[in-house]
Amino acid sequence: MKTFNTNPFQFNIPTKIYFGENITETALNQEQKIIKNSVLIVTTGRSLIKYGHLQRLIDLIKKSSPNIEVYVYDKISNNPELSEVKSAVAFSKDKNIKSIIGFGGGSALDAAKAAAVGLVTGADELERIFLNGTNPPENTLPIIAIPTTAGTGSELSKGAILSDKTRHIKSGLRGETILPKAAIVDPVYTWTVPEHITMETGFDVLAHAVETYMAVKSNAYSEMLCEQAIKIVSAALRQLKNDINDHEARAQMCFASMIMGLNLKNIGTCLPHRMQYPVGALTGTSHAAGLIALYPKWIFHEYKVQPTKISNIMKWLNYNIVSNSEEAEKYIRQFIDELGIKNTLKVIIPQKQQVDELAKRVTGNMANDLLANQPNIVDTIYKESWSD
Ligand SMILES: [Fe+2]
Repeated sequence: MKTFNTNPFQFNIPTKIYFGENITETALNQEQKIIKNSVLIVTTGRSLIKYGHLQRLIDLIKKSSPNIEVYVYDKISNNPELSEVKSAVAFSKDKNIKSIIGFGGGSALDAAKAAAVGLVTGADELERIFLNGTNPPENTLPIIAIPTTAGTGSELSKGAILSDKTRHIKSGLRGETILPKAAIVDPVYTWTVPEHITMETGFDVLAHAVETYMAVKSNAYSEMLCEQAIKIVSAALRQLKNDINDHEARAQMCFASMIMGLNLKNIGTCLPHRMQYPVGALTGTSHAAGLIALYPKWIFHEYKVQPTKISNIMKWLNYNIVSNSEEAEKYIRQFIDELGIKNTLKVIIPQKQQVDELAKRVTGNMANDLLANQPNIVDTIYKESWSD
């Protein structure tokens, strides 16, 4: 049996990574060339304001660059809307913004990337780029990404996922120019994240590890990162369920999230991430909530095409060797139950006829998932997940 992944590969990490507790000050001092004159912080606000994280960041920016103007746009929601980014662009008019800092969960980081485009193109052109999927321009403003949850890995990815409620679209801006110039991964920001969000965003880390491991584009290097990330998630999330104030487990989750950001950029995800987007766009539910609702049935079917890999994943999650699809599904359900984040598609979308419409709204590259070759598999997974 083949155990070594012989796919040829390139692996590119153009973003400068700063990692560690209280690394923010050092990072800002070293990135003065990027943060100059006038900077816009794009954030989801709320808890970051409540716990003083936002004010501390502003103070540190001013300390490292004393003459700088710092502006804050904090009206970004959990499923960032194109209209919110357009508002951020309007807010920034005549402020001569030279760089963008994304500060928050994946929503804030994605909105920051889109704002970095919109500030040079204008709002109308940003909308055109979003709708047509064209590349963001070369002169996009430089971005520094400071994640405050361990989840999306957006700090190292070249994508920005936005929703357009009026058109029922959830889609991405993609391109090398929206890759952050620097990622400041400071686990201290995650210390105040409540348990439920910690578990849900942690499940997103697991999903990135599982999907980039199963991906057609996977290679020996990315698989090594996946194995490490899944083992970390398995131990650290269970530890955080036990003690939400365990700072070492928090740092481990930040690390796992970050290394999966590398895989998101270089490998890409599988069907669950493609399938969650229409669910999120339709219902406004969180990215992780949709993934959790879809995962058991996806794992069930995925086992049939790649049993050895699914078995490895369950082993790294500390379960027994899996010998059929039913066992694989059972274990992923068990893990979701252990984290206390169970969700079903029927709860998210009570009306069956809306579920029947979902498959038509799935966009993006499906070829990264071997399972996608099976006829009607997307519709089947949606319907089976709804009937759970
Ligand atoms: Fe994700």
